[in-house]
Amino acid sequence: MAKVAFIGLGVMGYPMAGHLKARGGYDVTVYNRTAAKAEQWAAAFGGRTAATPAEAARGQDFVFACVGNDDDLRSVTIGENGAFETIASGAIFIDNTTASAEVARELYAAARAKGAHFIDAPVSGGQAGAENGVLTVMCGGDAEAFEKAKPVIESYARMVGLMGSAGAGQLTKMINQICIAGLVQGLAEGIHFGKKAGLDIEKVIEVISKGAAGSWQMENRYKTMNAGEYDFGFAVDWMRKDLDIILAEARRNGAKLPVTALVDQFYGDVQALGGNRWDTSSLLARLEK
Ligand SMILES: NC(=O)c1ccc[n+]([C@@H]2O[C@H](COP(=O)([O-])OP(=O)(O)OC[C@H]3O[C@@H](n4cnc5c(N)ncnc54)[C@H](OP(=O)(O)O)[C@@H]3O)[C@@H](O)[C@H]2O)c1
Repeated sequence: MAKVAFIGLGVMGYPMAGHLKARGGYDVTVYNRTAAKAEQWAAAFGGRTAATPAEAARGQDFVFACVGNDDDLRSVTIGENGAFETIASGAIFIDNTTASAEVARELYAAARAKGAHFIDAPVSGGQAGAENGVLTVMCGGDAEAFEKAKPVIESYARMVGLMGSAGAGQLTKMINQICIAGLVQGLAEGIHFGKKAGLDIEKVIEVISKGAAGSWQMENRYKTMNAGEYDFGFAVDWMRKDLDIILAEARRNGAKLPVTALVDQFYGDVQALGGNRWDTSSLLARLEK
């Protein structure tokens, strides 16, 4: 059975690492910056803990990471005591962080220089998808490494696809977020309008969700939006981090993203309302303030 390490036991990483152990049956070693969380994970799942990313990566076949942003990812890979200090030749590093395509290409090159492989593998499906092991994983990298990593990734995923060379996974995740941004604003405006019109939102959504306006966001978020509850799911701070990466990439590739850029500013308004940790459906809150 392959040996696996997991770096970053946050909202997403903690249950993903758990599935690698409990469902995949792999021998899992974890590292978390706040060590208490790694101890808690090891007590719950029976794996080992490491004191640094370098210690976690030593002698492993697969090394996973799910940290915050580009800088966090550089820190746990090419930083001091980073995983790339010890990663074995032939090992595969799988990065589940939502980061830039640029850092994916940079770390792909750094891993290759050590004889190791790097796959950018951001995920979609949120906290619930991670906890239930049904994430969608968008990968970029070499086909041979991907084929080896795919069955391991499937421990926590329902859909795993290779989108192209290094960075293509991150670019695909950007498209995912572009599609969500405008859609959630549309849903917020629809609910806002319905309330002003004095309609029963439950009834409205029950009917229109079965028609052409239906979406995952509508099905899964309308009840809580209608109740003014925004305290779960994907945080506004994370969404703004993603939109920042997307708008920078669009400046490079020349794509026109007028609605995405506008929604990014709307999320800025939500942050000003104190909604940094609210979920992304809180676009409704700025319409109702
Ligand atoms: N939450 C979601 O619904 C969701 C959905 C899809 C994608 N994502 C993406 O998945 C990634 C992780 O999200 P999350 O919700 O799991 O975040 P989170 O709960 O804030 O966890 C972040 C993890 O990264 C670690 N970390 C951050 N900076 C680090 C550094 N410089 N060195 C070492 N460890 C560091 C944290 O360690 P500590 O415990 O010490 O802080 C923690 O384990 C993000 O890129 C996010 O955009 C999240």
